Amino acid sequence: MLIAHVTDPHIGLRTNLMKAHPGPDEAFRRALAHLRQLQPLADVLLLSGDLSENGHTQDYEALARVIGEELSELTERGLLVLAIPGNHDNPDMAKSVLGDLMPVAADAPVGRVCIHVERGGLHFIGLDTVHLGFAHGLLEEAQLHWLEVQLKACAGQPVVIFMHHPPLVSGIAIMDACGLIQGAPQLRKLVAEHGQVQLIAAGHLHRPVVGALGGAPVVVAPSSSHQLDLNLEPGAPLACRMEPPMVGIYRWTPQDGIACHFSHVNPFAGPYPI
Ligand SMILES: [Fe+2]
Repeated sequence: MLIAHVTDPHIGLRTNLMKAHPGPDEAFRRALAHLRQLQPLADVLLLSGDLSENGHTQDYEALARVIGEELSELTERGLLVLAIPGNHDNPDMAKSVLGDLMPVAADAPVGRVCIHVERGGLHFIGLDTVHLGFAHGLLEEAQLHWLEVQLKACAGQPVVIFMHHPPLVSGIAIMDACGLIQGAPQLRKLVAEHGQVQLIAAGHLHRPVVGALGGAPVVVAPSSSHQLDLNLEPGAPLACRMEPPMVGIYRWTPQDGIACHFSHVNPFAGPYPI
């Protein structure tokens, strides 16, 4: 099982600060084109939020169009694409346009994009950490209860959780201030009790970051577009840095467990046999 992870495309973002940048829309297209070159191809693609910059309908339509244009061959061969919203998104708008990518569970808390799909023996559970109108994220009681029910229903079976706001403290102060400010301790308890969570995949930080929660690895993938400057000084200002975009490529088998790779979207010379 190969899981591709593309996050924070911020479709629709327009800024002249990104002078040599192809723009978020084109950067997203290049990330998906990169997935087509993988051997073997991914079985699942997770999109972990900030799909749009401003939550506009046309942004989600553009995102769906690019997915259709770049990945139709892969989806015809069975690629499963799942998406959850981030703080820049309008979840209702996203759902109305991207319904196929957001198969909200029948028992999900009202208004929440909670997803539970099984593929290849792995349970993919998507959580919706959006607190509408705020940059920070949260998991409130209803969603934690829903998650508890899901995890009990697949006791002993492997699970991948994906969510926008990562349940970790990165040390990038300004991002931690707008991180997952509610629900992380309860999530840790549920993950530890289940004992078979293979991975928690997240976005929001626009950097590759690895942590752990309740015995499971937490992996934050970089943005397909622009990254945040790595500055761990308390009080450091938030700044972008045009480091090369990457996609997460996570290999999982029942025997070997999880191995998380990051693959550069931009071309590099090689491979040179040695
Ligand atoms: Fe973002």
